[in-house]
Amino acid sequence: MDDLKRMEQFYDARKKDSWSLFHCYPFFLDSAQTEILTTILKETDLEKTTLLDIGAGEGNFLLKLMILGLSPQNITAVEYLEPRFQSLTQKLPHITSHHGDFLKLELTTKYTLITLMAVLTSITDNTLRYQLFSKALETLDEGGSLILYDYFDDREPLLSENYRALSLKKVLAYTDGMQVHLLKNVYLKSAYAKGLCKLGLKNLIPFVQSLKIFNAPYPFIVIQK
Ligand SMILES: C[S@@+](CC[C@H](N)C(=O)[O-])C[C@H]1O[C@@H](n2cnc3c(N)ncnc32)[C@H](O)[C@@H]1O
Repeated sequence: MDDLKRMEQFYDARKKDSWSLFHCYPFFLDSAQTEILTTILKETDLEKTTLLDIGAGEGNFLLKLMILGLSPQNITAVEYLEPRFQSLTQKLPHITSHHGDFLKLELTTKYTLITLMAVLTSITDNTLRYQLFSKALETLDEGGSLILYDYFDDREPLLSENYRALSLKKVLAYTDGMQVHLLKNVYLKSAYAKGLCKLGLKNLIPFVQSLKIFNAPYPFIVIQK
């Protein structure tokens, strides 16, 4: 089956609200992400930043960036799946949104900030995902930053039928001459966080997370061109 078709079927069948912020674990994940982004962007002039979010989903990550100060007229999003694209445009009507495959999209401008949040692991076809990553780097302005968040393992195993780990070595092979910063072990492993939520100990999550020893090894990567 074509990889994009497979992804369409997978997301269609998934429960829509499993990442609702009303659930304890996504709530803490969200606040941890906000903290990390604040650190990453602290020296960025947000008023002048032009952002491209590739695989924007329903716009949840974009919303966070807007709350941090990016203005809607400087934001462009691309999303392949129709239902997600509909939610995105309803939620964020003032940004520029493109529906379709980023690889086929003709863009006439470059961006000072590009985000690829949990996109590359959801493309299981290795050729396609490295093409997408390479095009993202081409679309990045000189001096701009690309933020990447995904699950890494250099053996690139299938994590399930619908996710494949990404090779950090391969990703870094595309970034010759660019500065790469890895922010490691930033989130508490989901099993621990969910366990603490179930035990009614959710207030302990920030503390346990700050110890880093129980955190998931997925890094946030910032690539500066
Ligand atoms: C795991 S979701 C992440 C969504 C969003 N970035 C977030 O963090 O909430 C991956 C998204 O990437 C999108 N995607 C994957 N390949 C794409 C492509 N070639 N062009 C546009 N979107 C794509 C999928 O449709 C899906 O919505």
